[in-house]
Amino acid sequence: MAHVISVQNVKGGCGKTTTAIHLAAALTDLGYAVALADGDPQKSALGWLERRPEHLATIEALDFTDLDLDELRALKKRKTLDYVVVDGRAAVRGAPLTDFIKVSDVILVPIVGLPLDIEASVEFLEKLWDYRKVEKGDAQVAVVLNKTRNTGKIAERVEALSETLDVEIAAYVPDKPGLQNPIEFGMTVFDQRRGSSQSIREPFIELAEYVVSITE
Ligand SMILES: Nc1ncnc2c1ncn2[C@@H]1O[C@H](COP(=O)(O)OP(=O)(O)OP(=O)(O)O)[C@@H](O)[C@H]1O
Ligand SMILES: [Mg+2]
Repeated sequence: MAHVISVQNVKGGCGKTTTAIHLAAALTDLGYAVALADGDPQKSALGWLERRPEHLATIEALDFTDLDLDELRALKKRKTLDYVVVDGRAAVRGAPLTDFIKVSDVILVPIVGLPLDIEASVEFLEKLWDYRKVEKGDAQVAVVLNKTRNTGKIAERVEALSETLDVEIAAYVPDKPGLQNPIEFGMTVFDQRRGSSQSIREPFIELAEYVVSITE
């Protein structure tokens, strides 16, 4: 039985691909069988998997740019798979969003804590509650506060919003340019066991543990 974790936000550049790749890597690191599904026609997640060296921990590649709901339902029943992490497309709305919600157990919404990003993301979060599945709690929604800096005020504002909207903040991911270096080579900080990358791995371990805790 595989759980589907979709990383979605209508806002472009908020860190959907970064979150999806690192969540897939962190869940793999915890010992789960993981597939990374690309829902974005830009196919950045699939490109990353294509570059991934063969000797590293396997993350299965799935192309969800043309979502086939029957195929996905069959995939969810596969006993050898624990998680399907979906990298969502920018500007998702309408039918594609509805389809993704239909198949998702968890929807993670990365938000950059800047005023314009917050505004667009809050609208998106509110829209999610129009879906009965979300309203009933059959698909759980949580925020990933991304690119956090020393932005106490903004974090406070997002925290207040998360209370108002009753959405948990699953992880705080700092703005770390070092995250991107291994991506070029099909890797993440989970493939580099240097002590210095431990602090960069931490928020994604926290995110993976959150996902495991709500899907168990
Ligand atoms: N926590 C972070 N620290 C440093 N850089 C980051 C972080 N998160 C994202 N980035 C950078 O910000 C840019 C946008 O991130 P990413 O591609 O993950 O966003 P996206 O939501 O998938 O974008 P799109 O809407 O185009 O699909 C990228 O250059 C990425 O490397
Ligand atoms: Mg992307």
